[in-house]
Order: sequence, then structure tokens, then C-alpha cells
Amino acid sequence: MASGQKIPARMTAIAISAPGGPRVLKPEMRDVPQPGPGEILIKVHAAGVNRPDVQQRKGVYPPPPGASDLPGLEASGEVAALGDDISRWRIGDRVCALTPGGGYAEYVKVHAGSVLPLPAGFTHTEAAAVPENYFTVWHNMFERGGLKKGETLLVHGGSSGIGTTAIQLAAAFGAYVITTAGSKEKCDACLRLGADRAINYREEDFVAAVKEATGGKGANVILDMVGGDYVARNYEAAAVEGRIVQIALQAGAVASADFSKIMVKRLTHTGSTLRPRTVEFKAAIAAALEAQVWPLLGTRKVAPVMDMIFPLSEAWRAHERMEEGEHIGKIVLDVG
Ligand SMILES: NC(=O)c1ccc[n+]([C@@H]2O[C@H](COP(=O)([O-])OP(=O)(O)OC[C@H]3O[C@@H](n4cnc5c(N)ncnc54)[C@H](OP(=O)(O)O)[C@@H]3O)[C@@H](O)[C@H]2O)c1
Repeated sequence: MASGQKIPARMTAIAISAPGGPRVLKPEMRDVPQPGPGEILIKVHAAGVNRPDVQQRKGVYPPPPGASDLPGLEASGEVAALGDDISRWRIGDRVCALTPGGGYAEYVKVHAGSVLPLPAGFTHTEAAAVPENYFTVWHNMFERGGLKKGETLLVHGGSSGIGTTAIQLAAAFGAYVITTAGSKEKCDACLRLGADRAINYREEDFVAAVKEATGGKGANVILDMVGGDYVARNYEAAAVEGRIVQIALQAGAVASADFSKIMVKRLTHTGSTLRPRTVEFKAAIAAALEAQVWPLLGTRKVAPVMDMIFPLSEAWRAHERMEEGEHIGKIVLDVG
């Protein structure tokens, strides 16, 4: 292993002391991880907070086998040490990375294929807000959903970290973007990000609104994080040959729907979760993002929407903020 400045043996991390509410997130001293072959150690400056971290804290989303038990799916910082077989990265490089867990800590080890350079002009707090949402949206909206220029996207939860990313990327690649959100303030934020139509789902039926906005055709791709009764309604809102991509089931995993719509409209209903995928799969997404999205981040054509930044020691407050549901965009931890 090659390393630059002296790396301490121990570090502060935020651990889940027991499944439960935000206050179970407690600072703990842990051994600094040792990067193995193909891995690098990052000295973390900022870590992104994501809804799956909340689920993990509650005990309903356990880390995959072999992953750190610490929360945190993305981080930004400097390369502090290199495992064997690393050619691209050098000690001191400013990077951001998708992490398999362990982002809420002073150091995190990651596979080199999940690492990307800081987008040009980005601060560490901004860069830490990128990987989880951009990897997820790129794969599900473009690779799985096959969204193309000129098509219509419907993305639910438009003001979420995922939603704000999907709106900007779909608009940047020439799609017509319809989104749903739970308040006027959130809908206005979505419109400012490039959505063509924002539906306040508490006041309007999104199926009727999508039909109206598309001249009766419906949405070609639906990116859905809600599930439950949205499953049947998505089938109604989808266009012929529409693709519905499920990335979460916040309103329930069991649904009743009229499946004849799948045959009549020739729909595809698919979905995925990012965290358990192989390092090779994640490296392929990283390469696509670097080629096609990093230039857009560098010119700020797309950028993470920053909600609030909390110190690492107050990770519990960051989770409270997320669970209150008032945030628009990303919540980030400043690790120092
Ligand atoms: N599959 C994957 O690989 C993957 C990866 C990352 C994240 N995710 C999932 O993607 C979702 C977004 O993640 P995030 O980190 O961006 O979280 P987030 O910012 O907390 O967003 C959650 C959003 O869900 C919306 N929502 C919740 N319950 C709803 C309901 N019943 N009906 C309509 N909207 C509802 C909320 O919108 P309103 O406030 O407007 O209701 C909120 O904007 C999470 O469910 C997360 O687990 C999946």
C-alpha cells in the first residue's frame, strides 16, 4: 500500500448504535480501513446523505455482505492511500466516489472503479452530493428506461435528491419533463430546474395531468420511487411502449393493478437497486458519467441542488431534516 501524509490508525465515524430514530447515530472511534488490491483510501471532506441511509438506520436496509456497517453511500475528499494495482489515481487527487457504505467517517475505502475526479470548479460539499443520485439516475433513466431526446419523462418525487437530478439530466438530454411533488414550493423548484410541468400531487391527479400535458399520449418513461397505488396509476399515465422504472417503494411493495395495460400498451415495468451491484457494473456507469455528464457539471448545465450542510457529528440532525420531508435537493455532511 502506498500512502502520503501519515494516516492515523483510528478515526471518528458515525455509527448506527442500534436500529431506531436519528439519535441512534453516534460518533465512534474505528480503525482506519486498509485499502486492498484495486481499492483506494479517501480522506473524506464531505459525505452525502441519502434516503437509503435512513432506511439502514431504521434497520430495514442492511448493508450487503462485505460492506462497511457504517452509513454513507457517497463521499468526496482526497486520495490518502493506494492499494495494489492502481494506475489512474495519485495520492492527493481530489475525488468523489460511490461508496458501498462507510461514507460517514473521516476515511473511507472504495473500489477505484467507483471513483471520479471532482467536477471542475466543485467544492467538496457539492461533489459529495453527486455520486449516489447520478449513478442511480443514469442507469435507471437512460440505460434501463432508455429515455431518448424528444420523449416525455415522468419522474415522481421531483424535489428529492434523485428527482432534482433526473429533471436536470432529462432536460439537458432533450426530453420533455413532467414531475410530481407535494407542495407548491417544491413544484416551483422543479420548474426552475428545467421541468416543463410540475404536478402538486396533493391537489391534482397526476394521471389526468400527464395525459393533458402530452395530448393524451402519456409518458414514455416513468421513474418511480413511490410504488403502492402509483403502480396502477403509472400504467394509466404511461404511453404505448412506455417504460416504468421502479427505484423505491415508499408507499408499499404490494400493489394491485390492471395488468392488461401491460399487454395493451406493450409496457415494460422494470427496476433496480444500485448498492449490491458489482464493482465492474459501477465502473461502467462511472465511465459513462465521466464522458457524458462530467462536462455538463463542469459548466454547471446540471448541478446538485444543495439543501443543507451539517457537521459530521450532527449526522442525526441531517437525518431529522430528511425525515421531516421539507428539504429540496441534497443534504450533506461536512467532515472537515
Ligand atoms: N434503487 C436505487 O438504486 C436507489 C438509489 C438511491 C435512492 N433510491 C430511492 O430513491 C428515493 C429518493 O431518494 P433520495 O435520497 O433522493 O430521498 P429524498 O430526497 O428524501 O426523497 C424522497 C422523496 O419521496 C417523495 N415521497 C415520499 N413518499 C411519497 C409518497 N407517498 N407519494 C409521493 N411522493 C413521495 C418525497 O416527495 P414529497 O415531499 O413531494 O412527497 C421526497 O421528495 C428513495 O426512496 C430512495 O430509497 C433508490
